[in-house]
Amino acid sequence: MKTIFLAITLLITTLSLPAQPKVDVHKEMEFAKAQYELMLKANKDLTRFPQSVKKEGILDTRTSDWWCSGFFGGSLWYLYEYTQDNKWKEAADKWTMAVEKEKYNKTTHDLGFMLYCSFGNGYRLTKNEKYKDIMLIGAESLATRFNPKIGLIKSWEEFKGYDYPVIIDNMMNLEFLLWAARASGNSKFYDLSTTHADNTLKNHFRKDYSSYHVVCYDTTGKVLARKTNQGAADESAWARGQAWAVYGYTMMYRETGNKKYLNQAINIAKFIANHPNLPSDKIPYWDFNAPNIPNEERDASAAAITASALLELYTYTKDKAHFRLAEDILRSLSGKVYTANLGENNNFLLKHSVGSKPYQSEVNTPIIYADYYYLEALLRYSRIKI
Ligand code: GLY
Repeated sequence: MKTIFLAITLLITTLSLPAQPKVDVHKEMEFAKAQYELMLKANKDLTRFPQSVKKEGILDTRTSDWWCSGFFGGSLWYLYEYTQDNKWKEAADKWTMAVEKEKYNKTTHDLGFMLYCSFGNGYRLTKNEKYKDIMLIGAESLATRFNPKIGLIKSWEEFKGYDYPVIIDNMMNLEFLLWAARASGNSKFYDLSTTHADNTLKNHFRKDYSSYHVVCYDTTGKVLARKTNQGAADESAWARGQAWAVYGYTMMYRETGNKKYLNQAINIAKFIANHPNLPSDKIPYWDFNAPNIPNEERDASAAAITASALLELYTYTKDKAHFRLAEDILRSLSGKVYTANLGENNNFLLKHSVGSKPYQSEVNTPIIYADYYYLEALLRYSRIKI
């Protein structure tokens, strides 16, 4: 009797809640077009990629060897995908080709971000064989960072005295290698990606499915230490790390069909969705355990990555909770607090991201990858009929 009463109360409460408006993708894309027209006008030097805004309010740019060099070209590809207007294709091609020389870069684990967000989107949309050839060289470069004895791709050369650090962010670079496996027919790319993902699943997560940022290994693959670089503490849940994790394992399920990756993504999504420190607008603080919550900066980039991941996850789980959380995030990001006004914000779309709070770098600023994953999430959202 009590259960029936509770169920009826819940139903009445749900029905009486005002329906939340849908996110207006067309409006947001129209704004993105106008804002990025200005971004293109302000950025003519193809050796300097728009990154963020410095404390003094000046545009911050980086060279092609910075891990973010693929995001501007990638964002332009998303605008081309939405508009089908060749103007965006030409701009995307220019900023994509500007990253080409990084295909020989063996000093970074971030070639996936650099080459797949740019050339990968370009190839998906145009089938330009030149892009494919460049990416296959890049995939070989990235694969050199995989040590079969350890079973992981090395992230950095050194971290706090450890010489085989692996960061959760590195899950994102596997999408590039899994593409290379298909495009080249060389199964080594598939094998090393699944080995890396399996070892990360085993060693990077706590019992509650939150992720450490950095795991340091010895030469046999034994874990020596679990630490943070950009989080609040070694035992905290750095927000963007959780976003990379849910995105990474959702992608791994897409690429392999292996249910253990899907389950991992579902559990990480649960950790994020149910976290008591997730604010009501669903834009996380830069770290779920930042010491001065609620007086801490939010990270729009973590929110955008999470939204994009959850929208893909929803297509596999059909769990409306995944879709709703993504939609809530997009509703907040597209609102006045997070979306810039035309011509402001040095022409970035989103405000309020955090690159690295411990290093006081890019704190509460626009950052190019927030824009990239926001555009990706808007496109994914527009394809889901619910
Ligand atoms: N992959 C570096 C970062 O998320 O800041």
